[in-house]
Amino acid sequence: MKIGIVGTGNIGASLARKLSAAGHEVRVANSRGVDGVREFADEIGAQAVDVRGAVDGAEVIIVSIPLPAIQALPADLFGSVAADAIVVDTGNYYPDMRDPHIPEIDEGMPESVWVSRQIGRPVIKAFNNVLAYTLAELGQPEETPGRLAVAVAGDDLRSKVIVMELVNQMGFDPVDAGLLAESWRQQPSTPTYCCDYDADATRKALAAAAPGIAPRIRDRLPEVFASLGPSPTHADIVAANRATNIVVGKQAS
Ligand SMILES: NC(=O)c1ccc[n+]([C@@H]2O[C@H](COP(=O)([O-])OP(=O)(O)OC[C@H]3O[C@@H](n4cnc5c(N)ncnc54)[C@H](OP(=O)(O)O)[C@@H]3O)[C@@H](O)[C@H]2O)c1
Repeated sequence: MKIGIVGTGNIGASLARKLSAAGHEVRVANSRGVDGVREFADEIGAQAVDVRGAVDGAEVIIVSIPLPAIQALPADLFGSVAADAIVVDTGNYYPDMRDPHIPEIDEGMPESVWVSRQIGRPVIKAFNNVLAYTLAELGQPEETPGRLAVAVAGDDLRSKVIVMELVNQMGFDPVDAGLLAESWRQQPSTPTYCCDYDADATRKALAAAAPGIAPRIRDRLPEVFASLGPSPTHADIVAANRATNIVVGKQAS
């Protein structure tokens, strides 16, 4: 497929690398123009473009930038994109820790609904509930017992099926997490968030999420991470997430 990726940080770079290795025609853009992304693009066999080049003619567009940066994208960026092009949002919202407050999200709008409204397009939410290390290092072939899962939410079935197949190609079991309006179930500090669960545990964790709880857990994260010391391992972070992202005392698995 023709896949454009906006953002070549921890998540966007991993996705670009894997999708290029899987044989897709990948174009990558970051905030620094064509020259700023060329070295990375050459390294992974992708094409270096600017953000307009990433969306132009793409069948799948992955937006993997900090949530507030969505508002810094050109206002007309998606205006000429084909109606059936799929837009994937990997974003997460960390007010005070990384992001300024976004009032609509603070008031309960699911993060990807906000993204969708900003860019004026439906989006599929995916890859937000795995850590960068998980995405880069812990993918496994299909049918591997205990294969880790990635939650995928969105309203258009065709788009969701295609994104779920891309998740599969990248080494993870895709789990249908329902409509975009339900995608708060996979946001930061929900039971399924960055816990390295397989598909069964992910489904249970999505079902166990309760409205309004996760933002309160998320806001305590600086305290939780401070308790892990200066250089927590991936296992330390996953263990902390599993212990913290619970719903009224009930573990996800
Ligand atoms: N890190 C994780 O473990 C993780 C896991 C799941 C989801 N996420 C979410 O996924 C998103 C990306 O995370 P990340 O960790 O990959 O972020 P990151 O490492 O900070 O990288 C952000 C990327 O966005 C690009 N960017 C920023 N503003 C831009 C703009 N206006 N136009 C084009 N590109 C722009 C940056 O460009 P430059 O390279 O030019 O600076 C950079 O390549 C975030 O919403 C994050 O919360 C992160």
